[in-house]
Amino acid sequence: MTAAPRKILATSALPYANGPIHLGHLVEYIQTDIWTRFQRLNGHEAYYVCAEDTHGTPIMLKARADGITPEALIQQVGDEHRRDFAGFNIAFDHYYTTHSPENRDFSEFIFNRLKEKGHIEVRTITQAYDPTEEMFLPDRFIRGTCPRCGATEQNGDNCEVCGATYAPTDLADAVSVISGATPVLRDSEHYFVRLSDFEPMLREWTGSGRLQTEVVNKLTEWFDAGLQDWDISRDAPYFGFEIPDAPGKYFYVWLDAPIGYMASFRNFCNSNGVDFDTFWAADASAELYHFVGKDILYFHTLFWPAMLYGAGFRTPTAVFTHGFLTINGQKMSKSRGTFITARTYLDHLDPDYLRYYFAAKLNNRVEDLDFNVEDFVTRVNADLVGKVVNIASRCSGFIEKHFEGQLSGALPDLSLDARFQEQHEVICQHFENREYSRAIREIMALADLANQYINDHKPWIIAKDPDQRDELQAVCTQGLNLFRMLITWLAPVVPDLAERSAEFLRHPIASADALRCIKQPLLNHPIGPFSRLLDRIDPDRAQAMMEETQLMFDEPTRPSAGKHLHDDPLSSEISIDEFSKVDLRVVRIQTAETVEGADKLLKLTLDLGGETREVFAGIKSAYDPKTLVGRQVVMVANLAPRKMRFGVSNGMILAASGTDDAGGIFLLSPDTGAEPGMRVR
Ligand code: MSP
Ligand code: ZN
Repeated sequence: MTAAPRKILATSALPYANGPIHLGHLVEYIQTDIWTRFQRLNGHEAYYVCAEDTHGTPIMLKARADGITPEALIQQVGDEHRRDFAGFNIAFDHYYTTHSPENRDFSEFIFNRLKEKGHIEVRTITQAYDPTEEMFLPDRFIRGTCPRCGATEQNGDNCEVCGATYAPTDLADAVSVISGATPVLRDSEHYFVRLSDFEPMLREWTGSGRLQTEVVNKLTEWFDAGLQDWDISRDAPYFGFEIPDAPGKYFYVWLDAPIGYMASFRNFCNSNGVDFDTFWAADASAELYHFVGKDILYFHTLFWPAMLYGAGFRTPTAVFTHGFLTINGQKMSKSRGTFITARTYLDHLDPDYLRYYFAAKLNNRVEDLDFNVEDFVTRVNADLVGKVVNIASRCSGFIEKHFEGQLSGALPDLSLDARFQEQHEVICQHFENREYSRAIREIMALADLANQYINDHKPWIIAKDPDQRDELQAVCTQGLNLFRMLITWLAPVVPDLAERSAEFLRHPIASADALRCIKQPLLNHPIGPFSRLLDRIDPDRAQAMMEETQLMFDEPTRPSAGKHLHDDPLSSEISIDEFSKVDLRVVRIQTAETVEGADKLLKLTLDLGGETREVFAGIKSAYDPKTLVGRQVVMVANLAPRKMRFGVSNGMILAASGTDDAGGIFLLSPDTGAEPGMRVR
């Protein structure tokens, strides 16, 4: 009944190389990782590739703001991303970068093919230009007063107050977010792909069952509205690939980004002896899947298949689109304190918890999903620890104590075993269809049956009777085999837990045919001593993660953490009156101590010259509390008190810091001679 192994290539969208990985991103990387792990455990040849998305104006400007080259920025952010993905056990076969020779070659190749076939057009367009910075301005780098409702400080293309959409030229008092200058209009030649040339091909491709219904409906709207030409060039200065024979013109980041999928795979093939053409040639037999979020659908279901087709490559087998993650019912946002980064999560919690929680919520539709902290703690503790791991911990002690770790030679309840086996195909089908929540529901229903079996047979009672040793061994052997089946099905979801379970069972779970092995129970087999396979989530740790998230984006000791030019314009001005509302004081640190349960916080008592204040500061990673006592620093003295789990913070101290976690923290201190209480202005 074993089908021939399939050849599969799957991708997740390439994260932008200018900000941290957050829980929202992880929905996608975990979804794809579960799927490709499942395929491999099922004996298929499945590859999972990804890369850093490194080009474009925001990355160029972020590097400039940080005072480093774009190359250095993408290297630094790329290293952080890799570390975060490794922390969540995202098992990429290859993780590359779009700033690579392979990507340049493919981008030029595809562009040239499209050009030869007459799909590229050059036209002059008029755009906003920053005369000070000498660069064209993308819409989001322009701000001004909404032409409809008069709200100030609105984006160049839409108003957050009244919802109006407009062109940046409609703004009454537009300014460049970069320099503060008033943009002027300027002409420039741009390259366009005539997308309408591909309409028949795209209609067929989108209509052949490879997309979710919601996606097909969206596409129908786009077709009905008429396919617009796609502007694929940008003028210098730009960080990207220069267009062949067009000095000063660069490929727009979204042209080379999806090509990054191919480039990453090409680079992988080169060093792993895998045949690239089997996966990408026009007549490729392998399957190609892209996992993406709903916000980037247009690029993946229209531009990308058109480019591939136009350049003579295969088109994707399917695009799998997921919805967006909310946190406690709210959009992820830095100011709301819901922007949980991968790093903050990992500083407090085990990756398998989140992988399990997402799996328990994911289906194959384009629905948003919510990370609710309380529900997360309850669900993971009840299911993974309370149901699954519990089975092993209820049986293993007896096997260890009375049978030297040896399992019995037969299963006492074959019909229960058969009951589990029967669900195998159903569970696999759910994983295949990305209906993870259904797979989890089936698995947990079986976990309930396994616990019921143990309740009914009460090994802790039989153990008291030396005449019932065979029965005891058999019951526990049955229980442990049921556990083994459950953990094998869960292996794509919780790889660390599966790994520890495999060690305990002294039998591998991660092998290529693990899912088929499920049919042979472990009998007359020695198992290891039971060690704690998974601890319950401590609700305090989850709470600490949320608090640290709060702190990270409104504590000025981490001023640039994860912020970018476009969401926090550096140049937005305040008046001297506004500035002088901030009461900055020199203070002396009287005491400094660590805070139980908070990884990043120190509790400080500050002497303002007569008055003292208690403040919590997120500086533990950079300072030993002992070295701080007696030191003078600068504080914001009139900040509204903030209630935290550990107490109330009455003000904050100032420090310089680099990007995210990597840049370090540097406290600001006055020169010698300053006294506590002095005003800073
Ligand atoms: N760089 C582009 C993708 C290029 S692919 C050729 C990009 N990057 S991104 O970093 O903004 O997003 C990466 C992926 O994460 C996208 O698929 C996006 O939809 C997804 N998500 C970003 N925020 C998300 C949530 N809050 N929830 C779920 N997915 C989210 O787009
Ligand atoms: Zn408005």
